[in-house]
Amino acid sequence: MTKTLDAIFRPQSIAVVGASRERGGVGREILGNLVKYEFRGSVYPVNPRANTVLSMKCFPSVAAIPDPVDLAIIVVPARIVPQIMEECGRKGVRGAIIISAGFREVGDKGAQLESEVAAIARRHGIRVVGPNCMGAINTEPDVRMNATFAITMPLDGSIGLMSQSGALCGTLLDYAKEAEIGFSKFVSMGNKMDVSANDLLEAWEVDESVKLVLMYIESFGNPRKFTRIARSLSRKKPVVAVKSGRTVAGARAISSHTGSLAEGDVLTDAIFHQCGVLRVESIEDLLDYAKAFTGQPLPSGKRVAVVTNAGGPGIMATDACVSHGLEMAQFEERTRRTLRENLVPAAAIDNPVDLLAEGNARMYETVLDAVLQDRNVDSVIVIFVHPLMTDAEAVNHAIHRACGRHDKPVLGVFMSTREQRRARPGSCTLPLYMFPESAARALAAMYRYGLIRSRPEGKMRRFDVKAERAESVVLKAREQGRRWLSPPEVEAVLSAYGFEMPRTVMCHDAEAAVAAANSIGYPVVLKLVSADVLHKSDAGGVRADIRNDAEVRAAFSQIVEAFTALRASNPALRMEGVLVQEMVRGGKETILGMTTDPSFGPVVMFGLGGIHVEVLKDVAFRVAPVTDVDASEMVRSIKGFPILDGARGERPVDLERLTEHLQRMSQLVLDLPEIREMDINPLVVFEKGRAPKVLDARIAIQ
Ligand SMILES: Nc1ncnc2c1ncn2[C@@H]1O[C@H](COP(=O)(O)OP(=O)(O)O)[C@@H](O)[C@H]1O
Ligand SMILES: [Mg+2]
Repeated sequence: MTKTLDAIFRPQSIAVVGASRERGGVGREILGNLVKYEFRGSVYPVNPRANTVLSMKCFPSVAAIPDPVDLAIIVVPARIVPQIMEECGRKGVRGAIIISAGFREVGDKGAQLESEVAAIARRHGIRVVGPNCMGAINTEPDVRMNATFAITMPLDGSIGLMSQSGALCGTLLDYAKEAEIGFSKFVSMGNKMDVSANDLLEAWEVDESVKLVLMYIESFGNPRKFTRIARSLSRKKPVVAVKSGRTVAGARAISSHTGSLAEGDVLTDAIFHQCGVLRVESIEDLLDYAKAFTGQPLPSGKRVAVVTNAGGPGIMATDACVSHGLEMAQFEERTRRTLRENLVPAAAIDNPVDLLAEGNARMYETVLDAVLQDRNVDSVIVIFVHPLMTDAEAVNHAIHRACGRHDKPVLGVFMSTREQRRARPGSCTLPLYMFPESAARALAAMYRYGLIRSRPEGKMRRFDVKAERAESVVLKAREQGRRWLSPPEVEAVLSAYGFEMPRTVMCHDAEAAVAAANSIGYPVVLKLVSADVLHKSDAGGVRADIRNDAEVRAAFSQIVEAFTALRASNPALRMEGVLVQEMVRGGKETILGMTTDPSFGPVVMFGLGGIHVEVLKDVAFRVAPVTDVDASEMVRSIKGFPILDGARGERPVDLERLTEHLQRMSQLVLDLPEIREMDINPLVVFEKGRAPKVLDARIAIQ
């Protein structure tokens, strides 16, 4: 199959198969849009029951068209699509947009029909968009193809948009035009029989006419490929996505901390972040961001100035900026002086600058020039509420003039529908918002994207490990049909990958435990060993700080008693023994975890550990492989990071070794796909120079 999508997006000639004569028919609407949008190539209507459609000569079949055809737009009933595709294949057509519905979306029969069509397409090397879609648009001046039945003609621009929902496409075009947002490519993907979101992302990475990628997706076709492509694309162009639906199958059996914390949308968020994709919650945000990204340069820092003529909106803008991670700029003295000299005495000259209702065009222009020149300002939000006495048009012009003179980003908040609609003076592409929060959100996203683009490309470290030893342990347990590794097996696997554990001995009676404690040295910890008990301390199965032989015997029987009580309600429970372990003092408890996501494969988790991890949920996820940059971000992104970094006068922990262990775990789970889930909780980390220690770990295999 040809990789290029040129037959679909840059055709010389198009056949519209199923171009009906009746007004309102989808085929005819598409034909009409192609003509109205002035497609640069030739168009051939195909319909055996018509001689002409829209004053164009109509052909009875694709075969009857005397000239070569690059792209077929198919709008016939689903059941005859295979026949049409076959005909197209024989004609040498290389691209198809199948608008027709009635395929996979309607159930098994439709799915079967869809596979049939897919097989024909493959056989003839035809690339296909759809079926069940609204079509595709390429506004590039040498193509100008509007192959959709949307009523709104798109403005041309620099956005590539893909949508998995056809219904949304019409609305998007509509709203975008109203907001003066233009597109380069616009694709309704439908059932994604062939051309997928990943294909489009790959194509748009090298497409000079696309400067910003917007996506509405409900499901990932090939999620791992997505992460690879998106990582590379997002370094070149901003990618903004609305992802609805949830990734993790709720039905999956969960048997670890990591598994239960990986539920819901947390993973999608983490994955998008890892690939540099900006995720938005709504279509509205998607288009709000689009305005900002296409209209203004990226801010080079997080310091924002707010200029307003009304107090309330200024405060709202300030709050929203701060809560989205921006900072209010501290003006230079020179700026303050200019403001003091040019505004009324009651005006606020500190950030946010409030011109008050007296604010006129001259004041706006002077203030904007001053703050945009200020070296402490990276971006500006300018708010205008129309008071009765002001010449709104003059203010509008002044704002546009000023922002056109500087190369820092400015976002406008004109708080009235009338001001939104007012004609834009000049060529300034100042994005306008109705409310301050929308502008603040968009500006914060631009700042975040700047960070994404400048973050170093991570490297995947390979550690010198004893992979075969770990593998043989895992394979042996699997042969025995076990789902969990025993404590000695866990220790063997982890130590093969460079993890250290305190000295631990597995015992089956109290006297053996006493002997073990004496050989390890007091104090020790005693722990229940049972594959059926997920959280030992919850079950009374952990006894710490045991200081002598008598305490060992007491602790041993307490653990047996606790287990017996547990078994009373569930006779199937098994106890394998008791671990005697060196007592580790000091350090900070962290959790390193791994779970297998049905679509993304192995994901790695980091958080502050201990028995409360599921309550606090202060964790970070990444898809494996975890690069050095990922590992460092994971550790630094949790709320509890200051605890590791030396809060309250404590010495910071060895972050270097901690991030190294995260990468070791990533290597482990990639080397051994048989590992299904894993918790190291706690991994105790210490001050610089001392290796972290695994106090407790569980490994589930598949
Ligand atoms: N060897 C040890 N030295 C010091 N504290 C320990 C040791 N082992 C466990 N603990 C403490 O007990 C808690 C629970 O023990 P753990 O082995 O993690 O059991 P579980 O997670 O199944 O409840 C740990 O989070 C840690 O605070
Ligand atoms: Mg534990």
